[in-house]
Amino acid sequence: MATATTAEYHSRDFDWEELRDEVENDPSLLYHLTPSAPSLPPCNADAWRSFHRRHSSGKFFKERRYLLEEFPELRSSDGFAKVLEVGCGNGSTVLPILRAKKNMVIYACDCSAEVVERAKEIIFSTIGVSSEQRFHPFLLDFSVNKFPEWLFCSSCQNSPSRNQSSSSADAEEEMMMLNDTKAQCCIGGVDFVTLIFTLSAVPLQNMPFVLAECHSTLKPGCLLLFRDYGLYDMTMLRFPVEQKVGYREYMRLEGTLSYFFSLDIVRDLFVGAGFIELELEYCCVTSMNRKNGKKMQRVWVHGKFAKPS
Ligand SMILES: C[S@@+](CC[C@H](N)C(=O)[O-])C[C@H]1O[C@@H](n2cnc3c(N)ncnc32)[C@H](O)[C@@H]1O
Repeated sequence: MATATTAEYHSRDFDWEELRDEVENDPSLLYHLTPSAPSLPPCNADAWRSFHRRHSSGKFFKERRYLLEEFPELRSSDGFAKVLEVGCGNGSTVLPILRAKKNMVIYACDCSAEVVERAKEIIFSTIGVSSEQRFHPFLLDFSVNKFPEWLFCSSCQNSPSRNQSSSSADAEEEMMMLNDTKAQCCIGGVDFVTLIFTLSAVPLQNMPFVLAECHSTLKPGCLLLFRDYGLYDMTMLRFPVEQKVGYREYMRLEGTLSYFFSLDIVRDLFVGAGFIELELEYCCVTSMNRKNGKKMQRVWVHGKFAKPS
């Protein structure tokens, strides 16, 4: 089995309040601070599908080696556990979990058939056949659709359509069929939901729906693990005013969305969906741009939330 060295997890290279004061006193950055009504973006799932079609080389793949340091619960959980990775991309979050824990099974959704296929290739070629029983990707636009009921049910997961080996050409159809399967026996839930750089990719007005779905999918007492872009991250401050599509919401040139979270907004969204806040903070990391030697101040939000028992 392939191995990977764990990366260190650090989060306090600078003080977020100092960065906030700098940004809020810089007249050239004023347009980032002014509230603006959202101008309705086109379907975000379509933009992500064409993004993945254009970037099919997998070069955006970077295994999140720090993930088990950031969320040690993933490592320490005893016994068999089910994880739902929402918006899995090419498997950057899935891979370190499968690598570290033999007794974890991951269900992972994305709206792009291309990226789901690529995630399978990356994961099966890295960890080997043993991961085929433990990684179950499916197609879903989770910003407007509920999670499928079979997600909760082991007998549906073992149904013939699930087990057929298929070519990538009919994988999309097969996964759609599976998503439509409804069974009365589907009860239960997952032990962890991971939302890693995914919530920021959907329009703000759809976030309460997504979080309500995540909440209903978790078993009582279990955890949602959250990491995403934070307010005043370097990438936010680089957006020109023309790419602002709402308050703290921006559209990249290829049409994908990026929202930048304050802790207050995260708290409101998650508590509003019925979660209990366990951890919530800004991660402030300074790194160096290797090409131009410039300092980059990155801000991410780390959060851990529980569904009440
Ligand atoms: C920035 S990537 C993060 C991927 C992964 N979670 C990780 O840790 O690297 C966001 C992913 O969310 C997916 N996504 C965005 N909007 C979606 C939607 N409405 N439904 C399903 N997937 C979506 C995109 O296709 C993309 O793969």
